[in-house]
Amino acid sequence: MKIPIRQPRQQKATIKTVIPGPLSKALRQREDKHLAPGLQNFALLTGIAVKEARGSAITDLDGNTFIDIIGGIGVNGLGHSHPVYVQAIQAQVEKSSVGSFTSEPRAKLFEQLAEHRPAPALHRVQLYSSGAEAVESALRLAKSYTGKYEFVSFSGGFHGKTMGVLSLMGSDFKNGFGPMLPGCHIAPYADCYRCPLKLEYPSCGLACVEETRRQVKQNSTGRVAAFLVEPMQGTAGNVIPPKEFLPAIKEVAREFDALLIVDEMITGSAERVNTGALGTQESTPMWLRSGSSLVVAFRSAVLSPPIKSRAPSPGPIPRDLHRAMAEIRWRPPRRAPLSGLSMMRR
Ligand SMILES: Cc1ncc(COP(=O)(O)O)c(C=O)c1O
Repeated sequence: MKIPIRQPRQQKATIKTVIPGPLSKALRQREDKHLAPGLQNFALLTGIAVKEARGSAITDLDGNTFIDIIGGIGVNGLGHSHPVYVQAIQAQVEKSSVGSFTSEPRAKLFEQLAEHRPAPALHRVQLYSSGAEAVESALRLAKSYTGKYEFVSFSGGFHGKTMGVLSLMGSDFKNGFGPMLPGCHIAPYADCYRCPLKLEYPSCGLACVEETRRQVKQNSTGRVAAFLVEPMQGTAGNVIPPKEFLPAIKEVAREFDALLIVDEMITGSAERVNTGALGTQESTPMWLRSGSSLVVAFRSAVLSPPIKSRAPSPGPIPRDLHRAMAEIRWRPPRRAPLSGLSMMRR
């Protein structure tokens, strides 16, 4: 579906008060009495309280308008409150706002994700609410599919804040939260500006990939389920590796008979960051995506090949359950029902 662009254009910043202004400050003070630490720094540091946001502009309570160049850390691709998005949410919530049941919009979303999949095999979709959840899910799927339990991630890498992915984080963010999960190995990323091996690209011949191979051989127990990599590191400071890096890591993953999990939470579209170079034919990479460019509402998705996992599948409804359901009769409750379920009696 092509979304008509009806966002405001040519938006400009206008500053009317000192920043943060008095109204923003007052609201922040109210909130600060109860707000637990842990929010994103940029939101705290600005000190502003948002009144409304449209397209690329955010207006605070004091009437100052800012251009939002952060965009939800890159996941707000449609811009703030896109009218088509607002309409779609409204229409859906009016019909139903709950449940993991099949619905027309969800089936359509799966079809669209599958239609734009980064590789032909990747047409199984799982939807999640956050990036970390999606990565955790991919780790579970990789364990389940391969029967192995170790993971390799990269220095500088960020994949969320839940315990599993924290163990794969390539920075000191995890300090104080130990012990981490066993079986997690962190290899050098191709950060050529600050080369971890102090070499120069291209004369290095991608020594970091060779080093990854060596480290995994030496440090793992030979049970690597997957390599987890950002095609371009976001949190580490927008680190774009040379275009040969991802295909080379895919090759290393293949050598260890492991899956490749490509975390595109920030980068979104494959084409933008050379993931196209990964090829589409052999091996079984998985893809994680979020970002409103692809899945609106800051949702995330895991795209995987139709591989078998050990997750329970519903299977056919047992015959006696059918019979039991057919026998369910509604009887008026004697007392006020505690829940909908208590109204149903056999
Ligand atoms: C590459 C990457 N993966 C995963 C995540 C985690 O996403 P979330 O904060 O939605 O859990 C982030 C968050 O910035 C990220 O940059």
